[in-house]
Amino acid sequence: MENFEQEVAAGARFQFGKNWKSFLSTLTEERIHVAGESLRSMLEAGDLRGKTFLDVGCGSGLFSLAARRMGAKVLSFDYDPDSVGCAMELKRRYFPDDTDWTIRQGSVLDKAFLNSLGTFDVVYAWGVLHHTGQLWQATENVTLPVNANGLLFVAIYNDMGLKSKVWRGIKRAYCSGWIGKMAVAGIFIPYCFARAVASSLKHGENLFAQYKKRRGMSIVHDWFDWLGGYPYEVARAEEMIRFYGDRGFGVRKQILRNDSGNNEIVFQRNS
Ligand SMILES: C[S@@+](CC[C@H](N)C(=O)[O-])C[C@H]1O[C@@H](n2cnc3c(N)ncnc32)[C@H](O)[C@@H]1O
Repeated sequence: MENFEQEVAAGARFQFGKNWKSFLSTLTEERIHVAGESLRSMLEAGDLRGKTFLDVGCGSGLFSLAARRMGAKVLSFDYDPDSVGCAMELKRRYFPDDTDWTIRQGSVLDKAFLNSLGTFDVVYAWGVLHHTGQLWQATENVTLPVNANGLLFVAIYNDMGLKSKVWRGIKRAYCSGWIGKMAVAGIFIPYCFARAVASSLKHGENLFAQYKKRRGMSIVHDWFDWLGGYPYEVARAEEMIRFYGDRGFGVRKQILRNDSGNNEIVFQRNS
């Protein structure tokens, strides 16, 4: 935790947990339902009864909650103490005194910590590995807790070459201190807002309301997550598939992007 605070003070890390704390005030049954549907669809499972689910970098805790509602025994962890607090708050609201949902503070870069957790039927690391500062080490470590035949669901920002490098600089500036934050937010929040309005008019639907269909997320919170989300690394889908293929994982389901968004891939460990 000490390291976390030092990294934030040094401008090396975005405080995701603070953004997730604010997101929790927007949480509705509809968002929880959409989050659950995204798990059902990608994991191709109606429920997770009898399964164990590890939520790596749990953020708000929304997907831990969704997995727990689907019947899984859940372990959530995050590096950011505020994210851990969010997951605890969701547990307090929806599953108080439940012994099948455990929440810890820890890092996916800490192999000893990961090994202490045991192995799981589903390991979920959505939008996390590229924010650790050591993408490929995290990508490797996250294989440790996957059971034989278990599923590993990862989402990593797509590599867009120069565009990704420019975005990395913008995020770094956002985290550098209050001047960088004000400058980046001052330029990009009005831009994001104008784009969302233009898109709503063009497609005849209110993007601000429709956005929750994307994994139950909130458009405004995602803007800040995107602008500040540092450390920031990227990977091409082929690199991810080759990396995990070399370690005995095959692709089960994928949603690939041709923009800067997340390539989402569900891998299965060969027995
Ligand atoms: C963009 S959020 C994604 C949250 C969640 N997985 C989701 O899908 O909504 C990234 C999360 O990764 C966490 N994170 C960053 N580095 C981490 C690390 N080394 N170990 C564990 N979590 C980490 C951040 O604190 C943040 O909560």
